Amino acid sequence: MLRLEDRDFFTDPEILVDPYEYFEAVREHGPIYQPAGKDYLIITGFAEALEIFKNSTDFSSSIALQGAAHPLTFVPEGPDISDQLEAHRSDIIGHDLLVNLDDSAHINLRALVNRLFVPSRLKANEEYMDELSEEMIDAIVAKGGGELIQEIATPFVTAVVADLLGVPREDRQFFMDLIQAAPPPGSLNSDDNDYRTEAHPMIIMGGYFARYIQERIDNPREDIMSELAHSTYPDGSRPKLEELVNLSTFMFGAGQDTSAKLIGNAMRYIADEPGLQDKLRADGALIPLFLEEVLRLEGSSKITARLTRRDTVVGGISIPAGTKIAIALAAISRDPRRWDDPHTFILNRPRIKEHLSFGRGAHTCAGAPLARAEVRILFEKLFAKTSHMELDEERHGTPGNRIYSFEPSFIVRGLADLKVKLTPSRSFADA
Ligand code: HEM
Repeated sequence: MLRLEDRDFFTDPEILVDPYEYFEAVREHGPIYQPAGKDYLIITGFAEALEIFKNSTDFSSSIALQGAAHPLTFVPEGPDISDQLEAHRSDIIGHDLLVNLDDSAHINLRALVNRLFVPSRLKANEEYMDELSEEMIDAIVAKGGGELIQEIATPFVTAVVADLLGVPREDRQFFMDLIQAAPPPGSLNSDDNDYRTEAHPMIIMGGYFARYIQERIDNPREDIMSELAHSTYPDGSRPKLEELVNLSTFMFGAGQDTSAKLIGNAMRYIADEPGLQDKLRADGALIPLFLEEVLRLEGSSKITARLTRRDTVVGGISIPAGTKIAIALAAISRDPRRWDDPHTFILNRPRIKEHLSFGRGAHTCAGAPLARAEVRILFEKLFAKTSHMELDEERHGTPGNRIYSFEPSFIVRGLADLKVKLTPSRSFADA
């Protein structure tokens, strides 16, 4: 029997393999639970998570990236810690990144982001995704398979976001190498998570983004960074260069691991769910629904965090100001009070799009449409060019006894590698 008091979600390499078993043990104690010896609550209930996501007055996002286990640098006092939080905000890792901002600082910066993801720009980016995925999938299918994560998924999503933001082509390989060598967000090795060290890939990328934005202040072009360089906040004031650099770097980083890992997570279902790939190959309209169910069951973000600013109540439970909250996305998506037969893969599950794998409320994932398009387009190509896809049993074992290496991160749910065998379709072979 799993002894909760001996386990720690944030550092335990065994929980990487099966976070669901751990969260089910937590759930037995109720949808909001403080594990013994820990100074944070874990939310496993869907309704409770939704309530917290929607209440950005009582819950601050300041610790979203740092995580609920990380100690605060102050001792919370009284029924409202808003002033204390502001006095210590700059101690928090990534305090100036969009996902960690609150109130008007968040609303202002988010308004800039929302203007960037307009349909015409996403459409142009989809054309690029189409061309690039065609090239990459042709290459891997022609050789009968390969390693999906490093060979396809990561370089593909890096190139797509680089294209969207306007990173010059000559620098893209450098960015790809940097991303591939970078620790995942929420690394189990806590030293990797401090974005303030000079050698951190986010800081190195920041140097490049500072140069690109400066160039575009002087000579605007037709790209997102030019738009950012000349943008104004809703009140008419101009963002500082540093704010724009942080925003661009964060957007570049935010969509990397999550989208790339979703591609691997989806492939596991394609390989192991009987009859699934034939259905999806026969009817491409099912691919988006398939991806939503994968997001629910194996979404690539396992957890996020909030800090309670004021004494409040959630799901009838009192939560004092200063309480750190771990919102277990991987558990709320399998809450049996919300989802029938929650651990089972069901294609076309009713109201599947209500899952919370992209968060909800003010901080809802800004890149969700991009992530959905990237993964859909890649799978459309894979289905069109293959007649069968399977995992390499030498590397991953047989169905029911699979062996995987998971990314050593408390945030990202995904595989470090996934070896696949791809049988070319007749039309691909003929061509
Ligand atoms: C499958 C892929 C992805 C997943 C599962 C995912 C998940 C999430 C989640 C759960 C949040 C909310 C965090 C919170 O409220 O604490 C979030 C925020 C965010 N995501 Fe994503 N994401 C994905 C892809 C992307 C992509 C491709 C981009 C952009 C290029 C992106 C950009 C962002 C940004 C900018 C935020 C912060 C929004 C804000 O704070 O207002 N994400 N994402």
